[in-house]
Amino acid sequence: EKGGYEHFMLKEIFEQPKSIADCMRGRLNASAGELTLGGIQNYAEALAQADRIIIVACGTSWHAGLVAEYFIEDMCRIPVEVEYASEFRYRNPVIKEGDILIAISQSGETADTLAAIELAKAKGAIVFGIVNTVGSSIARATHEGAYLHAGPEIGVASTKAFTAQLTVLIMVFLKLAKRKGTIAESRFRELLIELESVPQKVEKALKSDDQIREISELFKDAHNFLYLGRGYNFPVALEGALKLKEISYIHAEGYPAAEMKHGPIALIDENMPVVFIATRDSSYDKIVSNIQEVKSRKGKVIAIVTEGDVLIPKMADFVIEVPATHEALMPLVSVIPLQLLSYHIALMRGCNVDQPRNLAKSVTVE
Ligand code: M6R
Repeated sequence: EKGGYEHFMLKEIFEQPKSIADCMRGRLNASAGELTLGGIQNYAEALAQADRIIIVACGTSWHAGLVAEYFIEDMCRIPVEVEYASEFRYRNPVIKEGDILIAISQSGETADTLAAIELAKAKGAIVFGIVNTVGSSIARATHEGAYLHAGPEIGVASTKAFTAQLTVLIMVFLKLAKRKGTIAESRFRELLIELESVPQKVEKALKSDDQIREISELFKDAHNFLYLGRGYNFPVALEGALKLKEISYIHAEGYPAAEMKHGPIALIDENMPVVFIATRDSSYDKIVSNIQEVKSRKGKVIAIVTEGDVLIPKMADFVIEVPATHEALMPLVSVIPLQLLSYHIALMRGCNVDQPRNLAKSVTVE
């Protein structure tokens, strides 16, 4: 059942070229310039008319929501709020009739996300679900939605569900941008073609596995880790930190790289590993300066870079390459080495990778 892999988590990490392709199958036709999402029909016009979108989720699904915020604002020009379901539901949120709420959940059973949906529905919101588990409570509670088609995820650490959530969200909102006319046809086409090539790029990113295992050996005894990214890679930093803490029990924090100087920089010394997600994008020069700031304080830098980068390898202690893609799609690729890093470190520390202590796959308690 683990398909020859030692753990479900590793199997699910390596399955991603396939699960992302499955998620796009029958939906994305790049050569024809078409996106078909059967589950979003009746309320598609309401979505196009929205003056704001609220996304609710927990954990990794919340990180996928943060990537979606950047994407929706960029492509559709609709303001987005991303909320922890548990905070949203208890704070008397402002929701008006016809507001759009998007709930993201792998299991479809997360209690706080479900309660947030019920609250929003009671106030007249239209709720879309981005869910993996077919027929789950959240899938049933939403008005419309799109399933991930990623297949069951068994490892408690969410991996393939995250990349499938991003893929679905990108498809939904590219389609919306096209409908609203907020994206140029050429850019739309370019993104579809790029999206179609993501599974091959993920396949390539997985080839760093041996190198990541070697790096993990050197850092497995660290007590803390910092993960830094900017723009589309900021939520990836949060996700990398969550993966490490939940399965290896090493304290890790994710931050927007520019926030480092507002506090976390005080933590940096020769014992602090800092993982930079520093692929080539519109904030590249800025993140290069952040790497220099960490190096000048003797921090140990592990950088995720775009293939062929010649600058960062001169500064960082270790670099892990990923293939180039459009910056809006990069989280699908740049998260892969972080999943592997957490897996190897946890394994070397003797942790139960698939069933970390104190955690359940579905958090059905409030
Ligand atoms: O099933 P859901 O997507 O609603 O679950 C949300 C979180 O409980 C989940 O993502 C959790 O954070 C994972 N263990 C992270 O790897």
